[in-house]
Amino acid sequence: KEIIYFSEVDSTQRVAHELAKNGVPHGTVVITDEQTEGKGRLGRTWFSEKGKGIWMSFILRPSFAYHQALQITLFTSVVLANTLKKLYQRNFLIKWPNDIYINGKKVSGILTEMHGEQDQIHYMIIGIGINTHQITFPENLKEIATSIQQETGYIPKRIELIQHFFTEFEQDYSRFEGEGFMPFYKQYNDALYGKGRRIQLKQVNQQIEGTIMCIDSNGYLILQEDDGKEAKVVSGDIFF
Ligand code: BTN
Repeated sequence: KEIIYFSEVDSTQRVAHELAKNGVPHGTVVITDEQTEGKGRLGRTWFSEKGKGIWMSFILRPSFAYHQALQITLFTSVVLANTLKKLYQRNFLIKWPNDIYINGKKVSGILTEMHGEQDQIHYMIIGIGINTHQITFPENLKEIATSIQQETGYIPKRIELIQHFFTEFEQDYSRFEGEGFMPFYKQYNDALYGKGRRIQLKQVNQQIEGTIMCIDSNGYLILQEDDGKEAKVVSGDIFF
């Protein structure tokens, strides 16, 4: 597998798109020490301080169709949560769709982007930010963000974490390609953050309120609304 390293870059996500357009192979990884314009989901920025985290994007050239795109991001969260649990023996949870939480704060985020048509994805970029070494965060992030070091006391080794993640990802990815999300959705539910809590789900045009129940085998989030009815959602952002 090819790993392309930068000491500083605007966004590994942007670089990975460039490379993918130019035909680099499936599995290429772009990684950096610092991002000056780290991108988060829904147009947000991602704080990517020098040497304080793992900021990386990798390219997949999947054989499956577009509708599995949600599932691959959920699958990636399962792999990442499992990796973190194994290495640091703590309860890492997944806030749907794909934020990793520990002790009620976000320690990692995943951004999936793709390029292709309805029935065939040309390429997919999975961007992962993991806060490893921060001991303080800017005022606006303090209450919501944390790092592995802050929560576990370990001083993580970035290389070790990256190696473990990709070893696990490769193993499980062949299973995902063969069997889909089914073998992983129970693990996802075991790690689902906020089960039984009442939330607001913000979508582009509407907002739903309800209690988090689980995800189904497609990866849709099931909420129970106040009238007892179930709502199945495909996208949106959870607020507690
Ligand atoms: C989110 O939770 O909003 C997703 C955050 C994704 C951040 C990573 S860091 C590496 C890659 N490059 C980017 O610009 N963003 C992703």
